Amino acid sequence: MGGHPELNEGELVAAARAAAEHSYSPYSNYSVGAALLFDDGAVVTGTNVENASYGLALCAETIAVSKAMADGRRGGLVAVAVTGPHDSGDGDPITPCGRCRQVLNELAQLGGTDPEILCVGSDEVRRVALSQLLPHAFGPAHLA
Ligand code: THU
Repeated sequence: MGGHPELNEGELVAAARAAAEHSYSPYSNYSVGAALLFDDGAVVTGTNVENASYGLALCAETIAVSKAMADGRRGGLVAVAVTGPHDSGDGDPITPCGRCRQVLNELAQLGGTDPEILCVGSDEVRRVALSQLLPHAFGPAHLA
């Protein structure tokens, strides 16, 4: 990641885990944390927020992107760590849901980056480029 701050995997994963402590997920009991790393070194976090009307749940990644964009960010997304509640058991690495991939893609494409997604599992942190999770993505460039 030339020109970007050094990615400290442990710190970004810890930030996602800390965010998940504020998860509001009484219906699924599935707490998710997300931490976005930007090219200026800033980290913006999110966690999932559920609703008594179950279908209205908001994912951790979507909250994090919304927070960042509400703060004025329009790109510079370098990496994203995502944690779930099973990463200390026998859990496979969590991956962002389809909607969150699209939401992440909007912020990434605005700044012309292809962020690395750190998917945290019990035995490994799987690193996957967003473009691998969402190939041939529809984005803002299509509307230009
Ligand atoms: N969830 C996320 O926060 N991110 C994802 O990428 C997958 C799912 C949340 C939504 C819901 O609150 C809970 O996990 C169970 O689906």
